[in-house]
Amino acid sequence: MLKNTLVHVVLLFTFTLSAQQTRRVVTLEEDWKFHKGEATNAETSDFDDAQWQTVSVPHDWAIYGPFDKEIDKQTVAITQNGETIPTEKTGRTGALPFTGTGWYRKNFNIDAADLNKKVLLLFEGAMSEPEVYLNGKKIGEWAYGYAYFYFNISDALLEGQNTLAVKLSNAEFSSRWYPGAGLYRPVSLIIKDPASIDQWGTTITTPVVTQEVAKVNIKTNFSSKNLSLKTTIYDAQNLVVAQQQTPVSYDQQFDQNLKVVKPSLWSPENPYLYKVVTQLYSGDDLKDEVATKFGIRSINYSAENGFQLNGETRKFKGVCLHHDLGPLGTAVNKAALRRQMQILKDLGCSAIRSAHNMPSFEQLELADEMGFLFLAESFDEWKKPKVKNGYNRFFDDYAEKDVVNLVRATRNHPSIVMWSTGNEVPDQYGSAGVKRALWLQNIFHREDPTRPVTVGMDQVKATMESGFGAILDIPGLNYRVHLYEEAYEKFPQGFILGSETASTVSSRGIYKFPVEKASMKEYPDFQSSSYDLEYCSWSNLPETDFMMQDDKPWVIGEFVWTGFDYLGEPTPYDTSWPSRSSYFGMIDLAGIPKDRYYLYRSRWNTEDETLHMLPHWNWEGREGKKTPVFVYTSYDRAELFVNGKSQGIRIKNDSTPQTRYRLMWNDVIYEPGTLKVVALDKNGKQAAEKTITTAGKPHQIILEADRKTITANGKDLSFVTVSVVDKNGNPCPTATNALKFKVTGKGNFKAVCNGDPTSLASFYEPQMKLFSGKLVVLVESTKNPGNLNLEVSGKQLKKATISITTL
Ligand code: GAL
Repeated sequence: MLKNTLVHVVLLFTFTLSAQQTRRVVTLEEDWKFHKGEATNAETSDFDDAQWQTVSVPHDWAIYGPFDKEIDKQTVAITQNGETIPTEKTGRTGALPFTGTGWYRKNFNIDAADLNKKVLLLFEGAMSEPEVYLNGKKIGEWAYGYAYFYFNISDALLEGQNTLAVKLSNAEFSSRWYPGAGLYRPVSLIIKDPASIDQWGTTITTPVVTQEVAKVNIKTNFSSKNLSLKTTIYDAQNLVVAQQQTPVSYDQQFDQNLKVVKPSLWSPENPYLYKVVTQLYSGDDLKDEVATKFGIRSINYSAENGFQLNGETRKFKGVCLHHDLGPLGTAVNKAALRRQMQILKDLGCSAIRSAHNMPSFEQLELADEMGFLFLAESFDEWKKPKVKNGYNRFFDDYAEKDVVNLVRATRNHPSIVMWSTGNEVPDQYGSAGVKRALWLQNIFHREDPTRPVTVGMDQVKATMESGFGAILDIPGLNYRVHLYEEAYEKFPQGFILGSETASTVSSRGIYKFPVEKASMKEYPDFQSSSYDLEYCSWSNLPETDFMMQDDKPWVIGEFVWTGFDYLGEPTPYDTSWPSRSSYFGMIDLAGIPKDRYYLYRSRWNTEDETLHMLPHWNWEGREGKKTPVFVYTSYDRAELFVNGKSQGIRIKNDSTPQTRYRLMWNDVIYEPGTLKVVALDKNGKQAAEKTITTAGKPHQIILEADRKTITANGKDLSFVTVSVVDKNGNPCPTATNALKFKVTGKGNFKAVCNGDPTSLASFYEPQMKLFSGKLVVLVESTKNPGNLNLEVSGKQLKKATISITTL
């Protein structure tokens, strides 16, 4: 094991050394030792960890299960949800074993030459309350599981082998959703000259942006004296577009302005990235070099024009996302994030809010590259608790440090256009809360004068009275659409953001009768209806938000709760077992779109048509019964046919919020056969059509991969959607067949998920039942290139194999 570690580290060192003579970043990825539970002397170098599990980081120790209703069972009244009487909440934090202590150990090698270097140890997140030891000595600790932090470990390093040990502790009652557990984001060593650019010491802003020219301001903080800085800007083709050298610094900061002529402006539609390379010299001696990607763009928020990007007013078509990646838990994975964001692109979504904490660096890199506006949030709690052991315990000691690190680490991402200091913090009440809001906002302003700050507010009346809402750069309202007008009148900013909207609930492919609007509706199977008419006591249906967005120019956009389902918070089934993940997503936990996805797509995706019909048409036993049909479409009218018989034309109209955005045939009588919708253009001409056919028995398995070629790096993933069809090829929408998965060749079975919020099946066993006819299998590359083959089989089904190339 040790030998492997040495080879890995040494290889990386050699590679980075030859690429660049100055700093090296070594990601401590493989060959960690992990133990769940207390361990005496586990911080010492000679501790015997041979029996511990070998894991790679990022790692989430809890995601492997098993689900257990007793884990973090919370008997509480959730006051934010209007509850007054405590009830037993199972599954609130996902019912996975994240509580308790976990230890990680990792050996790495340091050359004699590196003992004269400055060495930082960077954690991009550690869940939670990390205590960090090097060679038996405590070198530091942190508290918040979502914070980025680093320590200067230069003085604690030894020549040769060094032993890093990290203890993590997760308290019960510390979260409102699944937080994950462990070293779930990268850990790295940064090895550089003592005279070097500070960690997160580069600040790039674009104070002047026109079509003709951009002024790029680069501030570089450094340690040491008598140095000069050479700064070069490259375009996306790696051509030099500007360069400047300066020996003049002020208080250990260089402040340069570079001119970029005819800049390509960054936007979701044109996510064009430049690169700044800053080189620090002592005489002719290159001491340090840092490369930073950035975008040239301007943002502005005003009462006259709302939110403007590059001078153009636009509204946020956004989603809130928690940080878990469904079956992968919280262990960050770029392939999984990229897939999420590709699905969001197809949706026409342009913005993401990292609810309710710091986003991963990977997610921000992808937002820059793929084109998403980003609302980077920090906290779900300040000083007043929502959950007993939440961030309230750390607020006084850590809030400033956590915000500083958030801003410094991420401020060069063009995607970030707004910060959030908090979500529905109970501190909205009372004058102390107003002071806290101002204090936090001022820290953001001090660290980054270019972006505004919001808070997602639910106690809107209280914030009108106390002045809390008035002091924010951007008043964000969570739900409470009925208060938008009043808030707009009373708050001075002149605009309102829907910082959190909808919270409509549904289960993919599940439809309930009678079809009616309902709040907190529960069914014996613990599912919610995909007719998209069910919501929470504090929330609303999508159309109520659409009307605000469409009719009020002073509403600057919305962030829908949520894009994807997440682990934990199984409202409206918080007290029902088994139920362990959310129903809020437009897309389920496996990453498969629900019907609601198409409702948003029909208005957000302006590049492509949407024509989507629901429910499915497999209703044995409902013959002769009323079975409403809804169509979510970018067209404004359509005609529906059951077995060729017209059910009439529907045209979007203003009589109700729903008829304005959906086409609904409420009196359709079910008979098996075909359901066809024909979309019509304004002249009544046929523009598009879609047909669903009643399926027979499941006959054959169908596989579809999101990517057929992946990288042979041991962590890239392909997501294979598995479904079944009858012998005529019709999809079987209600199939629940139990399937088995086998991977051969250059790859591994990684995980599986079917999107059923009530399933207690492990994500890590190579078998699972279909949910509403579908599930998703994740396969992972190895470091050896070649082909991997996934075979999926099930009783009485024609099996299927798919081959993925790994390069
Ligand atoms: C909001 C809250 C979210 C989530 C959501 C569910 O009030 O900010 O974190 O709990 O409700 O509807």
